[in-house]
Parts: sequence; structure tokens; C-alpha cells
Amino acid sequence: MTAAKDLFGGGVAVITGAGAGIGAGLARYAASELGMTVVLADVDAAAVAALRAELEEGGARAVDVVCDVRDPQAVERLAERTVTELGPVRLLVNNAGVEQFGYLWDTPVGNWERLVSVNVNGVFHGIRAFLPRMLAEPGRSWVWNLSSVGGVTAAPLQAAYIMSKHAVLAITECLHQEVELAGHGGHVHVQAVLPGAVASNIFESAGGVEDGDTAAAEGQRAAMLGIKALAMDPLEAARIFFDQAAAGEFYLTSQSFVHDAMAARADTLAHRRPPVLPVGEFAVE
Ligand SMILES: NC(=O)c1ccc[n+]([C@@H]2O[C@H](COP(=O)([O-])OP(=O)(O)OC[C@H]3O[C@@H](n4cnc5c(N)ncnc54)[C@H](O)[C@@H]3O)[C@@H](O)[C@H]2O)c1
Repeated sequence: MTAAKDLFGGGVAVITGAGAGIGAGLARYAASELGMTVVLADVDAAAVAALRAELEEGGARAVDVVCDVRDPQAVERLAERTVTELGPVRLLVNNAGVEQFGYLWDTPVGNWERLVSVNVNGVFHGIRAFLPRMLAEPGRSWVWNLSSVGGVTAAPLQAAYIMSKHAVLAITECLHQEVELAGHGGHVHVQAVLPGAVASNIFESAGGVEDGDTAAAEGQRAAMLGIKALAMDPLEAARIFFDQAAAGEFYLTSQSFVHDAMAARADTLAHRRPPVLPVGEFAVE
């Protein structure tokens, strides 16, 4: 097995949503443990400036960029600036994402549109801006898109989010095929990241509902915040994802319960069973 440091060390990593949670963990690990130059892109200017300062203090190379992945031109500028100032991109992580709680019929239209815009359009904008540049470079490179355990499950009161993570998984699987079809299979590596539970701010910053069943929406938020105690440290998650990527896995998973969810999904489809309400740790309270 090739060590992650051999593949990624010395390269440039661009991480969207790097200001918190999984993105910040990936940036810390890539910069400090693998010796990558990290481009920290986020709408939260203060968060990425603070992370850049922290990483530079530790002797790592980092650049902070304010970039809203909803804006295709902003993502194009991010790609152009990265390649011009730092050179070829070794790793692109389309990580920025937001959550939404509540019944689908109560979900504010603006929240739905924001979620689709960040979670789905943002990934597409990253692919559109960076892939042509990565394909044109002779060196190997990697594209990671953040799906989720939610990309292989159905769960009530998070339908918008779950839909977006199924979409990201589908985009990533098709992109993997397209890169191979275009003759770049051994050159540009496309991988789907499916975290299970990793400590982050995603549930705090999630949208809720204004009218309708606010109690159901906030009850689901509370239930998800309740499992935070079980969540993995983002640095540990980063180490796992980099090791799996270096081993050539397509599905990068943080915890074994993600594998259980994948198997359950396959079984449900194979037997054409209707969706049932989740039970156990992720059950709706
Ligand atoms: N934390 C988990 O357990 C978990 C599980 C499965 C999947 N994920 C996925 O991992 C990714 C990261 O989530 P997290 O849990 O670390 O969340 P987080 O809320 O801690 O961090 C997300 C970051 O994205 C940034 N962001 C939001 N909108 C943006 C935009 N339009 N443009 C640029 N940046 C933007 C935020 O400012 C924040 O810094 C998401 O795609 C999420 O769906 C997380």
C-alpha cells in the first residue's frame, strides 16, 4: 500500500468549506502531517484566516480565500489563482455543505434553494473549474466529493440534505466513469467521501422551518446534536480518508456503520423493500 505522504506530500490541496469541521480537519492533516500546501476556501473569512495563521505558525504553507461555492465565477477565480500562484492542484476537496431540518412540506423555499446551491451546485462548480486544469496536467491528481452516510440512506426530517448527498454520490460515480472514458483513469482519481459522524458545526448552522411543525424540525436538530458526543475527531477522520485514498479505495468512509448502511441500502433495493423509519442511534426521537 502506498503511504498517503508519498502521493500527496508536497502537493497543493484546495479544500472548500475549510473553515470548520471536516474541511478544517482535512486542511490541518494535509498541511501538518503530509506537508501539502493548503488553499482554505470558505465564505467564513475569519475562520479561514485564523486557520491559515495557525497552520503557518506550525511551519505549514497555507492560503486563505473567501469563496462562495454557489458562485461559479468565484470558484473559477479560485482555480485560476491557485494554479497561477501555487501550481498544479494535487487534491481538490469539494467539501462545503449545509444541513436542513424539518418536514419537506414545511421547508422554506429559500432554504431548499440554498442547500441545493451549496451542496450540489457547489460540487459541480468545483468540477467545472478544476477538472479541465487537472486533466491537462501530466501529474496525478485526486478529486474528493463530500457525500455522506446520508448518501446511501433515507431519513425523515432531513430530506433536502439526504437528497443532496445522494446527488453528490451519483455525480461522483458518474464523474469517475467519465474520467475513465476520457482516458484519464490512471491519472485523475475521483473518490467519494462518506463520513458517518464527525465533530463539526453542521447541525448548529443548519436551517430549520419558519411555519408548520417547528417542533419536529428542532427535535431532529436536537437528536442529531445528541449524537455529537459519539462523533469522530476531524483529524482522525482526515487520516482515515487519506489512508483509504492512498490505498485506491473509491468510497472513503470514516466508520464501519457507513459500510452497514451501504449494505442495508443494497439489500433494500435488491429486495425492493419500501423505506422504513430508522431505528437505533440515528432514529428520529
Ligand atoms: N460532520 C459530519 O458528521 C458529516 C457527515 C456526513 C457528511 N458530512 C459532509 O461533510 C461536509 C463538511 O461538513 P461539516 O460537518 O464539516 O460542516 P461544518 O458546518 O462544520 O463546516 C462546513 C463549512 O462550509 C462552509 N460553507 C458553507 N457554505 C459555504 C459556501 N456557500 N461556500 C463556501 N463555504 C461554505 C462553512 O462556513 C463551514 O466552514 C459537508 O458536505 C457535509 O454534508 C459531514
